Amino acid sequence: MMDELRNEIEEVKRSFADELGHVQSHQDIALLREKYFSRKKGIVTGFFDRLKTIETGRRPQAGKLVNGLRAFISERLAAAEAPLAARTPPRGRWTDCTLPLSELPLGHLHPLNFVRSQIEELFQQLGYEIADGPEIESEFHNFDALNFLPEHPARDEQDTFFVADFPDLILRTHTSPVQIRYMMAHRPPIRIIAPGKVFRKDNPDATHTPVFHQIEGLLVDRGVTFSHLKGTLEHFVRRYFGPGIRTRFRPSYFPFTEPSAETDISCFICPGDDPDCRICKGKGWLEIGGSGMVHPQVLRNCGIDPARYSGFAFGMGIERMTIIKYGVPDLRMLYDNDLRIIEQLG
Ligand code: PHE
Repeated sequence: MMDELRNEIEEVKRSFADELGHVQSHQDIALLREKYFSRKKGIVTGFFDRLKTIETGRRPQAGKLVNGLRAFISERLAAAEAPLAARTPPRGRWTDCTLPLSELPLGHLHPLNFVRSQIEELFQQLGYEIADGPEIESEFHNFDALNFLPEHPARDEQDTFFVADFPDLILRTHTSPVQIRYMMAHRPPIRIIAPGKVFRKDNPDATHTPVFHQIEGLLVDRGVTFSHLKGTLEHFVRRYFGPGIRTRFRPSYFPFTEPSAETDISCFICPGDDPDCRICKGKGWLEIGGSGMVHPQVLRNCGIDPARYSGFAFGMGIERMTIIKYGVPDLRMLYDNDLRIIEQLG
């Protein structure tokens, strides 16, 4: 019985070798491949089907024979293909689109986009919508409506990029003007996050670049309190950095929030006692952004009655969230296009 199978296989090999001798084109090879390997009527496929009828004890030995046949045929088909590829004139070249693709290198998101989409997703799970606004912004949206006085230092040419010949236009210095645009166009309840590019006249160093990214959050509804702000950011920090991370709110000042706070998170590398800690330098805390209750005047500027509604807002730097989480020593590395960095973080 095993001899019978062996003889049959030898016979198949002989007639295959004979057929292969007459092959002249890719089509011929494809036809042979079809004849031996097609799923329904392929000769080799048939042998594999027959294995199922062979008694269990003999199956391994029979399997070896059939596998040998398969290797014999597929190796020779592949070998016959190579010289044809070189010989076939371009005009008549024939593409076998049934061949499997060679492995393609897969790309991935840049770390900054990856972090942005992670943050977006966490807030979307809380019911926030994604909003955006222009990068070239009016002074009105970037400053006035946000309660900045005309003489506020941030409006200085030293800090802000102005657009030549358009006295009212600047490159936005933060994502907060999206709050204004959104509140002017929508009535509460409002729940948005607004990620995007912002611009400041900073000299590049390990923690500054003149172009960077922020993500803004805004929630306006009835009876919103500072506790809601704290709870939201604490929830976010635990989801983004890890469940053991603590949050701290330090009193601060922004013209468009009152009261205002800086949000810090506890260092997750050291407990705050290591002056050489590459993340917190021994302070134990890391600043992640500003926040506060939306100033009543800002609500009024957007036609929302502060006697009926209140809200909170926060802003975070996306670069900062990235370098903290992944321990990137210099934020400029994120822009160097060095694939070794980009690929490690992706
Ligand atoms: N826009 C502020 C900044 O860029 C951050 C902030 C956003 C503060 C929202 C309070 C509320 O520094």
